[in-house]
Amino acid sequence: MSCSGRPLIVGSETPERPFPLFVQGTVVKGFGRGSKQLGIPTANLPSDIVEHALNDIHIGVYYGWAQVDDGEVLPMVMSLGWNPFFKNEKRSGEVHIIHKFGEDFYGQNLRIAILAYVRAEKDYESLEALVDDINMDISVAVESLKREAYVRVKDAPFFVTKAK
Ligand SMILES: Cc1cc2nc3c(=O)[nH]c(=O)nc-3n(C[C@H](O)[C@H](O)[C@H](O)COP(=O)(O)O)c2cc1C
Repeated sequence: MSCSGRPLIVGSETPERPFPLFVQGTVVKGFGRGSKQLGIPTANLPSDIVEHALNDIHIGVYYGWAQVDDGEVLPMVMSLGWNPFFKNEKRSGEVHIIHKFGEDFYGQNLRIAILAYVRAEKDYESLEALVDDINMDISVAVESLKREAYVRVKDAPFFVTKAK
């Protein structure tokens, strides 16, 4: 358990159907609040992916692996839903890659392997409470992805290997 009362390891020992769910698309611009207001930059998935490839999974928060172009495969957390705190009118898919990037990657190719469901989307009393919960999601992702069956997915042929 953690101090927030949420468990640090979430998801069964091996990813369960329909996971791993592999999707890829070009990063599009969101509302730009992720970096500015939350300090947690997110890469928005194009709406055709959210409406088709991700139409069958419940809205909520997930973790898995992500790769920008042919870069390193890195841990990620993502939110799929309406962002009740911001009262969005359209379902969005937003990926936060757990890594410090120097710049935005709008227009670049993003590949993600979604591996497990973490929690339902919530509305919050304050921006701080939302940020606290997302930070906890990040810890959950980092810890949960250390398990062997999850680490193995990084080597899936879906991810691109850099030409040597
Ligand atoms: C891991 C994660 C969990 C999130 N959970 C919630 C949530 O429970 N409720 C909510 O309203 N928004 C949630 N968000 C979405 C943020 O509100 C969203 O990233 C923010 O609105 C920035 O969006 P923008 O880049 O389109 O501006 C979550 C985002 C991430 C990355």
